[in-house]
Amino acid sequence: MIHDIQPTIDRYPATLRILHWVRAVLTIGLIAAGWTMAELNDAVTAKYDFLYPWHKCFGVLVFLIVLAQLAIRAISRLPGPAPLPAHERILSHAVHITMYGLLLIVPLMGYAMSSSYAESDGVFFFGIHVPELLPKDNERFELFRFLHKALAYSLLALIMLHVAGALKHRFLDTNRRTDVLPRML
Ligand code: HEM
Ligand code: HEM
Repeated sequence: MIHDIQPTIDRYPATLRILHWVRAVLTIGLIAAGWTMAELNDAVTAKYDFLYPWHKCFGVLVFLIVLAQLAIRAISRLPGPAPLPAHERILSHAVHITMYGLLLIVPLMGYAMSSSYAESDGVFFFGIHVPELLPKDNERFELFRFLHKALAYSLLALIMLHVAGALKHRFLDTNRRTDVLPRML
């Protein structure tokens, strides 16, 4: 007998798994670097010569990776809903969607901040100069700076919740079926 229903898969496709971990490392690195550079004294030359340009460059890279992930996601066959109790499934889904939103908005606010700042050195993406499209305006710059900071640390809080959830399902749940980590490995 021929079935036209495709069997469900139990893991994310390889491209999405690889991009998930690359983006995870880059995002945590960007938050650590952003935090460090914002605290550094202006007299430290590495602040503006090294940390700022590379933070912006890798921030743009994360933005492009997330666009690629969403496009691949839209055309791929994905595993079914996570085998979790309803309240945990709804919470983890909401956290994933919010993280995707923040992963797009945070770099856009970073770009808007750089672009509107009168004394900005510009945004370089591995040798390519990204055009600065916004008018120079220090009041707007302060707003974008506030949003970039507040949303980046909100993203950090969600990442911590997300990682805590993954570890809970792996190590604390008594039901072995709720370990979702193999879906992303
Ligand atoms: C280092 C610790 C991390 C672990 C252990 C982890 C684990 C996982 C697991 C197991 C899933 C699949 C959930 C499911 O089965 O549906 C997942 C999905 C996801 N993770 Fe992570 N993750 C980590 C870091 C991150 C970071 C840093 C981010 C954000 C920058 C992130 C964003 C996401 C998103 C958006 C999804 C949803 C994927 C989709 O359905 O398209 N994760 N993660
Ligand atoms: C997912 C991507 C990104 C994340 C998670 C991120 C995260 C952060 C964090 C946590 C800070 C420190 C905020 C503070 O404590 O004051 C920061 C600062 C900064 N980020 Fe990003 N960022 C990202 C992308 C970008 C992009 C794409 C740009 C520019 C094109 C950018 C430009 C800046 C600048 C200029 C600062 C320093 C702000 C200041 O001096 O007050 N970021 N970022």
